[in-house]
Amino acid sequence: MKTSGAAWWRDAVVYQIYPRSFLDTDGDGIGDLEGIRRNLEYLAWLGVDAIWLSPIFPSPMADFGYDVSNYCDVDLVFGDLASFDRLLDEAHQRGIRVMLDWVANHTSDRHPWFEESRSSPESPRRDWYIWRDGKAGKPPNNWKSAFGGPAWTYDEATEQWYLHIFLPEQPDLNWQNPDVAAAMHETLRFWMDRGVDGFRADVVHLIGKDPELPDRPEHLAHRHPVSDHDDPRTHPLLRSIRTVLDSYDGDRAMVGEVNLRSAVSLRPYYGQADELHMVFNFSLLFAKWDPSRWRELIADAEAAFAAPHAWPVWVLSNHDRPRQRTRYGGSEDRARVAALVLLTLRGTPFLYAGEELGLEDAAVAESELRDPGLRDGCRAPIPWSGAPGHGWPAEPWLPWPPDADSRNIAALRDDEGSILHLYRRLLGARRRSIALRNGTWELLEGPPEVLAYERSEHGERRRVVANFGEAPVAFGSRSEWVVEVGTRAALDEMTWDGALRPGEAVLLRPVDE
Ligand code: GLC
Repeated sequence: MKTSGAAWWRDAVVYQIYPRSFLDTDGDGIGDLEGIRRNLEYLAWLGVDAIWLSPIFPSPMADFGYDVSNYCDVDLVFGDLASFDRLLDEAHQRGIRVMLDWVANHTSDRHPWFEESRSSPESPRRDWYIWRDGKAGKPPNNWKSAFGGPAWTYDEATEQWYLHIFLPEQPDLNWQNPDVAAAMHETLRFWMDRGVDGFRADVVHLIGKDPELPDRPEHLAHRHPVSDHDDPRTHPLLRSIRTVLDSYDGDRAMVGEVNLRSAVSLRPYYGQADELHMVFNFSLLFAKWDPSRWRELIADAEAAFAAPHAWPVWVLSNHDRPRQRTRYGGSEDRARVAALVLLTLRGTPFLYAGEELGLEDAAVAESELRDPGLRDGCRAPIPWSGAPGHGWPAEPWLPWPPDADSRNIAALRDDEGSILHLYRRLLGARRRSIALRNGTWELLEGPPEVLAYERSEHGERRRVVANFGEAPVAFGSRSEWVVEVGTRAALDEMTWDGALRPGEAVLLRPVDE
């Protein structure tokens, strides 16, 4: 596939795959690249435009791949470079783009760069990581690690401490060293030369750091820096990363995980169209089921991302947080309403594999927990069928999500009223409508439990009306609108009568269109 075309990622719906949990084909209980390749047909049927694979690189798996020991290969558990090339090629043949997860802030402690850095204070790679003397036997500053404990580990052999904002097995790279930046740029080139369409950049807001590494202020000292680290040194680093991407044809794109908690604080990471192409906005991922809160967060994003290049990104689930249906108390109705909103907002939506099935988190017994961050529940394997084993050749590495006998891809594909078909109908409606893909977004006034808005572009209009409440509501004028997609399939193509049941939402188009 030729990958040129203006900003494909603005028109895309991206589907995140956690490869360990998608589908195993070689019988080790861990998903692999071949499991993804065999199911490209499913992804094309669903209608997603791009996939993002959580890390597939060689890794000791202390953080399940977010601890990379070689950026330019594939971990044996997932396959090899040949199986990657085959997956990429077949995805492109189906018009599906592929983004990889680029772990920029830290490597594994088993990466040869770190092994060399650690070997001696005189090592030419010493300065590739962040080594400091302690303060009277204590760590160099008061930073906490995201996984608990201090963000520093003492190295007996060389009598210094190294910084790791995550696990001790994930030492932070020193991006102030130009050799580090150059080496990391090479890793991007390696994959772009193979044809990948872009990257999801892991906690990329952490790469710029004040070399003085001052203590965090007293009121923040109890908290790790991930959700508030916002250092100006990150921006020039992002600009040079962008230059590397822009030196390739085909609109290679980068979406950055910038874990700051307000839309307005994400805005600078787009630069002047010369930093990240997209920045995850996690506001809805953290939002309660409260329509006034959703209205406020969406309006905040509309204001913050008004510049043409500050294109919004929306996320309801990923591999780090409980799944949306679990967060909404297990209600499939709410999961359906949320999906209809997610796929009709202005910006690029990211789906997390399994949300289209309305999966809930697995209940993982303490003895089965694998993740240092206890995020196992949302990483449960995808059930492909109702048969024993759910399409997996061996017992998977984590327990199944609830109701896998009935809530699996085969069963929901056969049921036109399923949440899976709702996702598919929404993806189709989005693809057909310029207003949904690119139009303006305007809030509509309505009853407090209703979230309603209009999208429009070049005279085309779409309306969304979502009832977050527990009672029926009436909204808007009758007979002017037709239901294009309803959370209840029976509503589709009916003239809109202005009535919504509890936990119901509709996407409307004008009668005369
Ligand atoms: C990101 C990833 C998360 C990982 C962390 C450290 O937040 O999404 O899974 O543990 O970075 O790489």
